[in-house]
Order: sequence, then structure tokens, then C-alpha cells
Amino acid sequence: MAKPHHHRRLASVTTTTLLLLAVLHIVRTAAEDEQPPWPICGPEPSSGNYPQNSTYDTNINLLSASLPRNASSSAAFYATGNVGDVPNIVYGQALCRGDVANASACESCVATAFGGAQQACPLYKDVVIFYDLCQLRFSNRNFLLDDDYIVTTYWLQRSRLVGSPAFDGAVGMLVNATADHAVGDSSRRFGTGEVGFNDRRNPKIYALSQCAPDITPEVCRNCLNAIIGQLPKWFSRMTGGGIFGVWCNFRYEVYSFFSGRPLVELPQIVERPPASAPPVIPGGEKRRNSTGKVVAILMPTIAVMLVIAVVYLFCWRRRRPEEDAFLPSQSATSNDIQPIDSLLLDLATLRVATDDFDNSKMLGKGGFGIVYKGVLPDGEEIAVKRLCQTSRQGIGELKSELVLVAKLHHRNLVRLVGVCLEEQEKILVYEYMPKRSLDTILFDYEQNKELDWGKRFKIINGIARGLQYLHQDSQLKIVHRDLKASNILLDFDYNPKISDFGLAKLFGGDQSEDVTSRIAGTYGYMAPEYAMRGQYSIKSDVFSFGVLVLEVVTGRRNDASHNIEQDVDLVNLVWEHWNRGNVIELIDPSLCNHPPVDQILKCIHVGLLCVQRKPASRPTMSSVNIMFSSHTVRLPSLSRPPFFIQDISVSESWTAHSDAYPPGENSTVMSSNQVSITELSPR
Ligand SMILES: *[C@@H]1O[C@H](CO)[C@@H](O)[C@H](O)[C@H]1NC(C)=O
Ligand SMILES: *[C@@H]1O[C@H](CO)[C@@H](O)[C@H](O)[C@H]1NC(C)=O
Ligand SMILES: *[C@@H]1O[C@H](CO)[C@@H](O)[C@H](O)[C@H]1NC(C)=O
Ligand SMILES: *[C@@H]1O[C@H](CO)[C@@H](O)[C@H](O)[C@H]1NC(C)=O
Repeated sequence: MAKPHHHRRLASVTTTTLLLLAVLHIVRTAAEDEQPPWPICGPEPSSGNYPQNSTYDTNINLLSASLPRNASSSAAFYATGNVGDVPNIVYGQALCRGDVANASACESCVATAFGGAQQACPLYKDVVIFYDLCQLRFSNRNFLLDDDYIVTTYWLQRSRLVGSPAFDGAVGMLVNATADHAVGDSSRRFGTGEVGFNDRRNPKIYALSQCAPDITPEVCRNCLNAIIGQLPKWFSRMTGGGIFGVWCNFRYEVYSFFSGRPLVELPQIVERPPASAPPVIPGGEKRRNSTGKVVAILMPTIAVMLVIAVVYLFCWRRRRPEEDAFLPSQSATSNDIQPIDSLLLDLATLRVATDDFDNSKMLGKGGFGIVYKGVLPDGEEIAVKRLCQTSRQGIGELKSELVLVAKLHHRNLVRLVGVCLEEQEKILVYEYMPKRSLDTILFDYEQNKELDWGKRFKIINGIARGLQYLHQDSQLKIVHRDLKASNILLDFDYNPKISDFGLAKLFGGDQSEDVTSRIAGTYGYMAPEYAMRGQYSIKSDVFSFGVLVLEVVTGRRNDASHNIEQDVDLVNLVWEHWNRGNVIELIDPSLCNHPPVDQILKCIHVGLLCVQRKPASRPTMSSVNIMFSSHTVRLPSLSRPPFFIQDISVSESWTAHSDAYPPGENSTVMSSNQVSITELSPR
């Protein structure tokens, strides 16, 4: 009896492995990393703009005529200075990186930075700009008196990720070591370093730290500690990153990005491979980065697994799947094998659980099929989704993918309890969510009074975290493609859980490329590039998230068909009010009891950032989460229209500090918004 199972299991393990490799490849090529220069236009507190050909303009030009030379001729490649008189005085600071080749390379970098600053931030009085080899700030304010180590900073975050936890530790150690070197270097306050691993699963790491050379060792240390302290929270697993400020900066990469020998070389990090456990099994906790190794190890692994499979079948066959999902993993091996069988539920059980799919048990109808409420023999309540769509994939492949989806565990994702693939049926079984879906409460005039602002903010935050996990933190990098209020389920405490993730990928169209001929999403939530050209990416999910945020704040649907009396959709309505400065009027009237207006405005701001027309201008979900969780983050400006925005890489950069509300005087571009948004409505 056991024998056929072995074959099936091994076959599906192999396909899953290949699948995972394909996914990893996508992750690698999908990186959209910002190239320098990295500007901050008008950091807080805002200084505003200067008129063209004004005295201020002239003073900037005067500064640019001498500051590059002054910096390059100083021993530390550093200069500060000012030109003109109040009110048109311009203060400047220029610093070249410690490894710049020579004085002329420094001078030309700073000179270029003046041009680059005015191009990236036209007519801003206050600009900070970072290049590979130098940084420049000019301002009407004497910022040289500020000690805002973390406030005015540019954050560089690489989108590629690595899996090994040892990597983060090594980055922290190396960056710390370069910081120590910089603090101790009295002439340049500069340090570089590298560290490698004894195996090939982790790349070699290169890092650099630098302070402005005119500050004391103590100030340099405090400044570097403040920015390096952000590493564990915001840079976990990223293959590169850095924080650049006026007084100090650090940066790390997995390639050599500075010249000269590293000033600090840490001893190789020895990471012991897990003994005897097969290192690569699809869906394992770690993302591997050595595909060659994966294939090499797979063959011997199969033999080991055959043995384990026999034991496993013997011992675990009768175990209930729900239990398995919560078992601590005894070893990598058993953990990796369990779900394939433990996920399978038989049709007979589900028929009993749902009274043979009785209409009275129906919870709702979704794009993929009908959902029933059920109760398993042990009393656990479940939601049973009976899919009507046929998948293009064979059962084997479907199973493997479902196993991968079942491995996604996050408190803001609905847990997949099991699957049933029998007799032409494709059924997914999820944990049951007592408060049903967000739309049933949010858009109900009576029920939405239950949703005070605290709950709504918790819902917005939870969705953002779940989505970041899908996009970046899970091993699969899943684009949801159909994020909407009815796909957000709420547990007893109104914790939001995203449902239907992975389904668009499985059932929604062509798997082979990122342009799908059959669009799976829902109008009203769909990013323009997805609605019109079928192009989807994590940034189209970000768009849907933005719509959702605006819906939660206003209690209104974006779907035009629900607001016939309203001739403009919700997104444009919010944008218009935002520009006129009266967006507060749109806040859901059910939110009485003095909701925190600042926080609500911040949510609206983030929502509008997410629905910008160009995918590249929308923030990533990790940026969104930083914006939500930090009080010091200053959000990117929305002064340009969200639906007709020119190419701005700037928007991904955001500087820290006080959120200035209400913003936006600029309301000139309304007509172009309306034109472009009509493309979004159902045709
Ligand atoms: C600024 O000066 C330049 C050159 O003198 C001229 O071409 C331009 O029209 C002026 N711009 C404004 C706004 O006065
Ligand atoms: C550059 O250095 C010269 C000579 O020390 C000085 O006179 C000038 O003011 C400096 N320029 C600025 C912008 O500070
Ligand atoms: C300075 O460095 C640049 C870049 O490495 C190089 O091209 C140039 O020849 C150097 N100039 C001098 C004077 O050494
Ligand atoms: C880096 O240094 C800071 C402060 O000295 C310390 O708290 C942190 O644990 C260090 N990190 C690592 C990875 O050594």
C-alpha cells in the first residue's frame, strides 16, 4: 500500500524543487534597485523654493564655483562654506568618500553634484544629494548647527534578499567594525571592510562607514550608532543597503563597491551546515542562493528521503493535518516532507463537514468558487472553498504549488488547513474567520460603527504586513493580484488576514510570464498597467492596497458602480480633496469620538502614494510599513499628481521627520487625473 505513495511523493518533491528554482530566478531578476544619485529634496523643516534667476539662484552658482575646489584641496576632501547675506544666504557642505582616487576626481564629483541636485530637485532651497563618491548639501538654513543624525537621511534598500540568518549577523558585525575604524581614524573618519563565509551559500559582504571629518570621535560614534542601529529592523536579509546623512553614513553590498584594500578584514565566518539533513527541499525555511549546489545534492537526497518517507508514512499517516501544521519541526527533513500528505483531506470528510455542500452553509461566492462553512469531526470550524475554475496545471503540479502556498505562515494570512483533489473536485480548506470579510462590515451602514479608528488602523497595518510577507519575506515572492476588501477576513479580534493569495497564480492565467492575457483582478482595485496591459507586479498589489486604505478611511467603495450619484471614483475624490486641503471631510462619519486626525491623514497620504500611476513611483510594502511604524519618517511629497506622474525615482526615497499636514497646495493638474482615471473604469 505504501509503495505508490513513495513515487508520487518523490515526483512531486522533484517538481516542486524545479519550481522553486524558477521562482528564485524571478526574484533575482526582478530587483529594481535605485542607482545614484540619491537626492533628498527639501528635507524637513521645509525651506520652500526659490524663484528662477533670483539672488538665491545666483548664490548657489557662486557656491558651486568654489566649494568643489575647496573640498578637493582639503586633506580630508571636505569643505563647508556659505555665500551671500540673509535672506539669500546659501550654506554648503561637500564631502568626498575616503577612497576617492585623487583631488580631481573629488572636485568633479562635487561639481556634478551641484548640477545633479538642481536637476533632481529643481528650485528647492534645501537639497541633500548622495553620489557614489561624494555628497553635497546646500540650504538657506545653517544646517551645520543641526545634530539630526537620523532625521535627514536617505535610505538605500536593495530589493534582493538572502536567506541565511547568519548573513544579517555578519552584516552587523562588519558594519560595526568599519564604524569602529572610522571613529578611530582622526584624519578622515572613514572605514571599509569585508567578510566572507566558509561556504558558498552566503555571498561575501563589503561595507563602508564614514563621518564628516570635522566632528569629534564621540559625535561620529553617536551618529553611526544611530543609523547602524536601524540594521536589524529594516535591512534584515537585504543584500545591500545603507543610510546616508549629513554627518555620517554607512553602506554595505555583496559586491566590492569601494576601491583599495579593505581597511578591516574580519575572519571568515564558519557556518556549520545542518548535519545529515538534506539542505535543499522546496519550501524549506531558507532560500538558497547556490542553484548548482541544489541540483548536485538532490540525487543523493532522494535516497535518504525514500527511507524517511517509509518511516513517515508509518508514523504519521493518521495524524490530523491541523496538528501537523503546528508541530515544531523535529528536523529539517520531517518538516519538509510532512505537508504533502498531511494537507490532503478526503472528500467524504468535507461532505459531512458541510452537509454535502448545502446552500444553508454557504458563506459567499468568490471569483474562484463558492465558500461553505464546515465543522470538522473534532469541532474545528473551517471555511471550505470549492473551486469552479479549472487550472491549466496537472494535479501533480497543482499539489506541489499548494504545498508551497500552505507553507506560507503569517499572522496576517489566512491559514490553509488542507486541500482535497478528488473526483474532479478542487477544494481548499481554510481556517474559519468569525467576523467574515472586511467589506461586509466596512460598507454596511450599521455594522461599520463597530470599526473604530483603532480597529481600522490595526486592519490597515495588518494587511500591509501580510502583503510585505507575501512580496518579500516569504520564500515564494507571491503577487496577490486580487487584493480587495472581500479578500480581507477578520478574526474575532478584528485582526485582518489576507485570503486567496497564490490563487491567481494557480488559476488566474498564464503562468509563464508576467503579462497575463486573462486578467484576474477586480476593477476598482486594479492598477492601470494591470487593467490595460495585463502587467502585474508587486507594485500592482501596492496599488490595490492603496485603494483599500482609502476605502477603510472613508468607509466608501472605490467601485464606481456602487456610487452612481458620484461622478468621480473614490481615488480621484480623495485626491481632489487632498489638494484642496479639505480631505478631512471624507473621513468616514462613523468615526466619531475624536479619531487621531494626524494618523488618519498619514494613512491617506500613504494610500495616495500607493495609487500613483507609475509602478516605480509607488512605494514597496516594506517602505509602507516603515512609514506606518515610524513617527519620524517624512513621507514623500505628493505635490505632483498621483496619476500622471513623471518618472520619479525620488519617491522611493524618503527622509525622516515630522509629518507636515495638511499638505499640498498644488492642484493644477486635476484634468489630467480625470482623463487617466477613466481608463480604469469597467469597459
Ligand atoms: C532666467 O535667465 C535666463 C538667462 O538670462 C533666461 O533665458 C530665462 O528666461 C530667465 N528665466 C526667468 C524665469 O526669468
Ligand atoms: C573656499 O576657500 C577660499 C580660500 O580659503 C575661501 O576664501 C572661500 O570662501 C571658500 N569658499 C566657500 C564657499 O566657502
Ligand atoms: C585621478 O583619478 C581619476 C580616476 O581614477 C583618473 O582618471 C585620473 O587620471 C587621476 N588624475 C590624476 C591627476 O592622477
Ligand atoms: C554593533 O554595535 C552596537 C553598539 O556598539 C551593538 O549594540 C550591536 O550589538 C553591534 N552589532 C553586532 C552585530 O555586533
